[in-house]
Amino acid sequence: MDPRWWHTAVIYQIYPRSFQDSNGDGIGDIKGIISRLDYLHTLGINAIWLSPVYKSPNVDNGYDISDYRDIMDEFGSIEDMDELISEAAKYDIKIIMDLVVNHTSDQHPWFIEAKKGKDNKYRDYYIWRNPVDGNVPNNLRSSFGGSAWEFDKYSGQYYLHLFSKHQPDLNWENEKVRQEVWDLMNFWLEKGVGGFRMDVIDLIGKVPDEEITSNGPKLHEYLQEMNRKTFGKYDVLTVGETWGATPDIAKLFSNPERKELSMVFQFEHICLDQQEGMEKWDLKPLQIKELKRVIAKWQTALGKKGWNSLFWNNHDLPRIVSRWGNDKQYHSESAKMLAILLHMLRGTPYIYQGEEIGMTNYPISSIEEVDDIESRNMYYERLAKGYSKREILESINAKGRDNARTPMQWDDTENAGFTKGTPWLHVNPNYHQINVKKNLENPNSIFYTYQQLIRVRKENPIITWGDFQLIENTEEEVFAYYRKLGNEKWLIVANFSESESVFSSKDVVKKVIMSNYKQNNINLSNKRLKPYEAFVVRI
Ligand code: GLC
Ligand code: CA
Repeated sequence: MDPRWWHTAVIYQIYPRSFQDSNGDGIGDIKGIISRLDYLHTLGINAIWLSPVYKSPNVDNGYDISDYRDIMDEFGSIEDMDELISEAAKYDIKIIMDLVVNHTSDQHPWFIEAKKGKDNKYRDYYIWRNPVDGNVPNNLRSSFGGSAWEFDKYSGQYYLHLFSKHQPDLNWENEKVRQEVWDLMNFWLEKGVGGFRMDVIDLIGKVPDEEITSNGPKLHEYLQEMNRKTFGKYDVLTVGETWGATPDIAKLFSNPERKELSMVFQFEHICLDQQEGMEKWDLKPLQIKELKRVIAKWQTALGKKGWNSLFWNNHDLPRIVSRWGNDKQYHSESAKMLAILLHMLRGTPYIYQGEEIGMTNYPISSIEEVDDIESRNMYYERLAKGYSKREILESINAKGRDNARTPMQWDDTENAGFTKGTPWLHVNPNYHQINVKKNLENPNSIFYTYQQLIRVRKENPIITWGDFQLIENTEEEVFAYYRKLGNEKWLIVANFSESESVFSSKDVVKKVIMSNYKQNNINLSNKRLKPYEAFVVRI
């Protein structure tokens, strides 16, 4: 594959609402981000994936857009955005925009027009169907609960919304809709953005009448057209959010010969702690052997015909250290183990804000404390179905999206230095222990592990380009693999457990590259592993 900048890059995701408030209204903003570029530069990242900052009524925190060419008032102005792009460029940091074009807000002028009647010229920008026997057209469900069809009294038709009813789905069959999307993408490309993260992009080829939502027949045709009409001529990163991707599907998206996207986010590993065929709220414990199998599959299956993205977290997922690590006794050890394990894989790593300091989930005890529309809708839906409150809250504490959305913890002053006003969402009270300032002061902090991982990646092509090989026949909780490039061979070993374990190999260590426990020498014959121990060695 032709090397591109994003093959060796590390991306940092910012959820703007919760990153840094600059004017005391309790809401993070673009000026706040600009004031923290220096910190991101210290960490060493190459690009920021910015969750949506466009004008939005905020039904789904910016994932419901009412103007793609303007900025949400709380976040600042288009001038602030221009400044962010140019200030970030001074640090060699690119800005990757979140492209949410499966749907718009119901407050978008296109939808306001479309609702005016069947003859309106924007009617066909959305998906309308007549009632069937006085009821919804079919059984399609919204990801946020209930039917995906909403009745419009005025015209007597239903419109489709795969998310909330305030997020009507765009009709991608309509050439005019596609042209609008190409135009708005070009608007941002001309501003010099570094690429796009594409929200639920595998839904745009849906065929609602056949109840096909993801991976519809025209999906790849649309993406090839998008590539030709927009970013194809730029050196940018494009990453699609594709919950339904298998390795074969991921190759369709990311094989460079097909001229679609740079890579996709696939979620197979993320779904391993939910019951088969159920929703994410239906919890089950993670099995390490499954995690090893799934990661190894993705590491090898794409071969030279595609590219992986690597992530544990984002704004929709719980905090990884609380989820699969240990956010109490082994907070630091387990956070570092998870970081080392992920960042030594083949692919482009994504760090979600606060992950680099080991931020944790925020436990709630009542639905009143929850902002997220997905958790709230599920709560009332499951209550009505007879689930107990206790059970539902347990699911929200494990998987709710607010876990990742609590404000960034900068220091131990009031509100963790996030705002001088009242934060829009509760700050995790553990900010006195877990914050950026403390991390920067402690040379053994989680932050410096991330910083080192980024640096080591830059200095060693083996991490980007090397082959991956899982080591089988280890203890179940030991996740070990080789990376290999030419004559160079690295071994990565991680004890995915709070108990001690053991790893044994005939390999001889030439150099310890990294470890989350201090050790300059490692003997691999019958090596005892401490809780959550992880290391990288050249052999
Ligand atoms: C994606 C986003 C999520 C949003 C949804 C609808 O999954 O990551 O936050 O709610 O799409 O836009
Ligand atoms: Ca603000």
